Amino acid sequence: AADMGDDLERILLPAERLGARLDEIAAQVDADYAGRDLLLVGVLKGAVMVMADLARRLSLPIEMDWMAVSSYGAGTTSSGVVRILKDLDTDLSGRHVLIVEDIVDSGLTLSWLLANLRSRGPASVEIMTMLRKPEAAKVEVDVRYVGFEIPTEFVVGYGLDYAEKYRNLPFVGTLASHVYAE
Ligand code: PRP
Ligand code: MN
Ligand code: MG
Repeated sequence: AADMGDDLERILLPAERLGARLDEIAAQVDADYAGRDLLLVGVLKGAVMVMADLARRLSLPIEMDWMAVSSYGAGTTSSGVVRILKDLDTDLSGRHVLIVEDIVDSGLTLSWLLANLRSRGPASVEIMTMLRKPEAAKVEVDVRYVGFEIPTEFVVGYGLDYAEKYRNLPFVGTLASHVYAE
């Protein structure tokens, strides 16, 4: 694993818990989408880890596509401004779409993305997120699959970054305040 020095305060969710929860969610997704043609849409860059780990647990035949949007920039708080940096390659008309995210914080990214993808004529659009901060929600987003509800702290690892770092940590941890106070 990466050498994080003393940048982390504590480990919130070790790799084994993330994996065990994904086993459960993958079984639900397999059951819910049985006999249907599923497209996973990963939201770059944060969702890379959960997308790979969920996809490899599914027994269903699936397709994977990616969208890059950004609402955070380099800071620790959401600006609410969503930009498309890379759009899907896939035509969504008639498709069953499952958006895969690392975290729902304010909900602004996902509520915008949901409306955007729904306007493209899919058969269905649902959301899976590894983490959700219920106390931070500025807008209610209906999320079908949630890995873990977490407290309103700044977390990194398992795809989540601070200033593009720490995404490669195999666990979710809280960042020591001296890192973002520097
Ligand atoms: C982060 C995170 C989610 C979004 C959640 O992405 O990965 O996509 O913010 O925040 P919200 O619920 O307040 O909208 P970010 O914009 O930092 O881009 P990244 O995935 O490339 O890190
Ligand atoms: Mn993201
Ligand atoms: Mg980010």
